[in-house]
Amino acid sequence: MSTRIKIKALLESTQTDIDVTVKGWVRAFRQNRFIALNDGSTNNNVQIVVDFENTDPALLKRITVGAAISVYGKLIASQGKGQTVEVIAETIEILGDSDPEKYPIQPKKHSLEFLRENAHLRFRTSTFGAIFRVRHSLAFAIHKFFEERGFVYLHTPIITASDAEGAGETFHVTNFDLNNVPKVDGEVDYKQDFFGRSANLTVSGQLEGELGAMALSDIYTFGPTFRAENSNTTRHLAEFWMIEPEMAFADIIDNMDTAEALLKYVIAYALDKNKEDIEFLTQRLLDEEKQKPQNERSEMNLIEKLQFCLANNFERLTYTEAIDILKESTPNKKKKFQYPVEGWGTDLQSEHERYLVEKHFKKPVILTDYPKDIKSFYMRQNDDGKTVAAMDILFPGIGEIVGGSQREERLDKLEQRMDELGIPKDELWWYLDTRRFGSCPHAGFGLGFERLVLFVTGMGNIRDVIPFPRFPKNAEF
Ligand code: 4AD
Ligand code: MG
Repeated sequence: MSTRIKIKALLESTQTDIDVTVKGWVRAFRQNRFIALNDGSTNNNVQIVVDFENTDPALLKRITVGAAISVYGKLIASQGKGQTVEVIAETIEILGDSDPEKYPIQPKKHSLEFLRENAHLRFRTSTFGAIFRVRHSLAFAIHKFFEERGFVYLHTPIITASDAEGAGETFHVTNFDLNNVPKVDGEVDYKQDFFGRSANLTVSGQLEGELGAMALSDIYTFGPTFRAENSNTTRHLAEFWMIEPEMAFADIIDNMDTAEALLKYVIAYALDKNKEDIEFLTQRLLDEEKQKPQNERSEMNLIEKLQFCLANNFERLTYTEAIDILKESTPNKKKKFQYPVEGWGTDLQSEHERYLVEKHFKKPVILTDYPKDIKSFYMRQNDDGKTVAAMDILFPGIGEIVGGSQREERLDKLEQRMDELGIPKDELWWYLDTRRFGSCPHAGFGLGFERLVLFVTGMGNIRDVIPFPRFPKNAEF
């Protein structure tokens, strides 16, 4: 028997009339004759031609949708339409049966809601196969980008005592014996829940990343982060992956340049590497759009949107300039913003971000210099005393995809800001040490990985671009 060949390689083979072994899961079996077989290496199935007259009927009955099979046969140039090669089966072995009465995934289009409920099997559909191959390529391209630029991949802790964003949205970590919980004055003493002290799951690796950058110059983290916000939106998860570069001797302009270059690099990589998957996802969206009235359909299809993003500079403007635009704008002729933009100082809602990107500039936007009161304590204060050197990148259909800043490297300014915000300096003594010993200008940002995957796949719900989404009440597997 020849060794197994993956279906992607088989379909790209220039050789025919050779013996091959393919293994995969049956996607469809037509007329007792044609098996559509898929092994996840590509969205395309290989057609297996079965000589049903000379095949044991008991075996034929076991070739059902979802079954795992191994096929040995001859690869030939196909006579039929829709494929260039096919395999004439000589022997078929059933590796794992699948009861067609019980198998939830049928050879038809299932709704995304249905597939979310069957998330353990949704990998076996064309849509989710494409999404997770694209996700993989984007992750790989991120490492490649930083590797080419001499960044060090730094692993920051998942369990930590700090709340980098200071938003109090942390999950506690506990090793308490629930039958014997330590109490102080009758109340559970959470200050002891991690072997005698308090700890939580990280919301961001940034503060630890800064420690690395203050010695290695350029580092990045890429790992899971956790937010205990009880938000049930299409853009939020309780567990999401974040890429956080941190660069010494860099300012806000370097930060913007790096973020824009990173986004363009990884999108271009996926467009090239996952051409067929992205074409499939584009067609999927076009089919979905056909249900909508003409005037609600998008001007560009998915591939065009991605190419457009690569071909144009991101628009860069300050928060203050954005507020001036928003004060003068209404989302469409009749409608007002749900949250009218009243004045300087308020945080932008996602409707405002999306208006700027989708209606006003019609391209990705980088907003800088936000009011200091709506941003985190570690951002560098600008000379005006009101704003900080923050930057958010806003993407069409997504809203905020990146959040970052130049960091406050001046010890006195940082301590003063922490005092104003009531952030305990003694708990972050290690962070402040970098400002005490050899402080220097530095900057960094966080890219939400799932929001990037959403953009590149054109999917509408963040729960569909992570293999095992975590959101309120969902943690089964
Ligand atoms: O803006 P955020 O909260 O920034 C930070 O955590 C900084 N410490 C990053 C840094 O400067 N190193 O989060 C960064 C990005 C957001 O722009 C968004 O893309 C994503 O992380 N994000 C989420 N993605 C999914 N679900 C959530 N609940 C998210 N919260 C933030
Ligand atoms: Mg943010």
